[in-house]
Amino acid sequence: MSQQFDVLIIGSGLAGLTLALQVADQKTVCIVSKRTMQESASSWAQGGIATVLNSDDSIDQHVDDTLIAGAGLCDADITRMVTEHGREAVEWLIDLGVEFTREDNSESGYHLTREGGHSYRRIIHVADATGHAVQKTLAQKVREHSNITLLDNHIAVDLITSKKLKRQSINSCLGAYVLDNDSGKVITISAQKTALATGGAGKVYLYTTNPDVSTGDGIAMAWRAGCRVSNLEFIQFHPTCLFHPHAKSFLITEAVRGEGGILKLPNGERFMLMHDVRAELAPRDIVARVIDFEMKKRGYEYVLLDISHKPADFIKEHFPTVYKHCLSLGIDITKEPIPVVPAAHYTCGGIMVDDKSHTDIANLYAIGETACTGLHGANRLASNSLLECMVFGRIAAKDILTAKERELSDLPDWDESRVTDADEEVLITHTWNELRRFMWNYVGIVRTDKRLSRAMHRINMLRDEVHEFYSNFRVSNDLIELRNLLQVAELIVKSAMARRESRGLHFSKDCPDLLDKAISTVLIPEENYTLLDNEHGH
Ligand code: FAD
Ligand code: SIN
Repeated sequence: MSQQFDVLIIGSGLAGLTLALQVADQKTVCIVSKRTMQESASSWAQGGIATVLNSDDSIDQHVDDTLIAGAGLCDADITRMVTEHGREAVEWLIDLGVEFTREDNSESGYHLTREGGHSYRRIIHVADATGHAVQKTLAQKVREHSNITLLDNHIAVDLITSKKLKRQSINSCLGAYVLDNDSGKVITISAQKTALATGGAGKVYLYTTNPDVSTGDGIAMAWRAGCRVSNLEFIQFHPTCLFHPHAKSFLITEAVRGEGGILKLPNGERFMLMHDVRAELAPRDIVARVIDFEMKKRGYEYVLLDISHKPADFIKEHFPTVYKHCLSLGIDITKEPIPVVPAAHYTCGGIMVDDKSHTDIANLYAIGETACTGLHGANRLASNSLLECMVFGRIAAKDILTAKERELSDLPDWDESRVTDADEEVLITHTWNELRRFMWNYVGIVRTDKRLSRAMHRINMLRDEVHEFYSNFRVSNDLIELRNLLQVAELIVKSAMARRESRGLHFSKDCPDLLDKAISTVLIPEENYTLLDNEHGH
């Protein structure tokens, strides 16, 4: 017997919680979240939200900065629409009680910081813990809402579609199978509308700023169900992840560079100016590539980010999280530079959606980092992601609230009759480590044809092993994630192989030039890849 809801939301980051709160007064909502509600990239966001709030800045300028960073592949209409809706989304957060950092003599009343690729100060933030403050506020509202059921520690295994059940000619989403991590049972959820809000896929890589939950589950589930995916070769590497043997995935926010932080080699030499006139504030793809180049050329394991020339009080006030975390590891950032390396940070591509967050499957939406809306193109402009989560979460909500209801039918239970308990979990851990390591080595900041085909060869071998495991054993959280990581890795490599140029975040030594025409990579399930023109829509 399935549980029934009007709206099923898979994921409790900013995209998922925004959608939930926007529909819950009129709809019953189920949020499925694979760990705690707070565990998400959204909660880890530091820098802030890019929005035009002061009159010396303009929407046109925000659009231009986004298009420049996106290297010809942003959808200009979507970019304008998102930037125009930024202010109301931020005001919604303020109304809910988020206390952004204030500045008395600023026109908006808020302190706006600056990040790479932005021509103005336009990042509204809560010191250096913006995501934590936003998610805490939204999570509280979700807990208080009687129409929202939260299933935390539950992981969605797969979508249930009419095509899989052979019920209708149009492929439509009917709900999802969800594993309860506590009981080990798979439950069936039936819903009028389902939204994937599962975040990015940073865990495909060995070194990442992302939390453990970022395993690309939504992209893999949507692909298996029949959705197209786009531009997955564009993985953004953040230039400054803390380098320390005891630090796992800790970001040093770009706002440190925005407020004057300088990149240096371990010998103290400044290097960014030799590569780009914008120096430390060049877009991320450039800064990450330069750091990678300098580290490889000179054999360094890391470079340094130095903000210690700023007054200690300023550093502690603006970067309390970074200050305290580094201090706990013995680095006093008010007195010494921070060792940093680039790490996988953001999945620019994803499930193809239109301007209403519709995927290719009826009644299935994709929002947030899992979606490819056309905003980020070949390289996301810093702090445009939280903005996108809210704007598209609100758009999807509007669409859901005006859509016609359909009769919910009962769905078949998950079939476990032919599987047994796994005897060797080590196979999962081993494959997971192997995958993440070769993706880092072969499909990283700089790519070659040979490295990509090596990666694809290994993916093909691992796919058979994981498939056998999945077919014979009871599903577990780790197995579900591994199966999804492998699927997303394959999509990333296929997309990277298809791009015969270097553009934005995709840099190939074999194809270093930029082609005249900017074209999105689109992969279609059950077919080989195809390239579409840059119209992005369906
Ligand atoms: P997430 O916030 O990642 O949430 C995904 C949710 O889906 C989680 O709850 C997860 O548990 C759940 N989930 C995943 N798979 C399943 C499944 N199979 N079943 C059930 N649940 C599932 N962007 C900015 O704009 N500004 C910033 O300052 C900024 N700073 C960042 C700092 C860091 C360290 C990182 C990692 C990212 C940062 N970003 C920033 C990017 C931004 O935080 C993310 O792109 C954004 O938060 C993604 O939100 P989301 O709701 O799409 O996904
Ligand atoms: C950061 O604070 O550097 C992250 C900003 C982003 O990823 O948008």
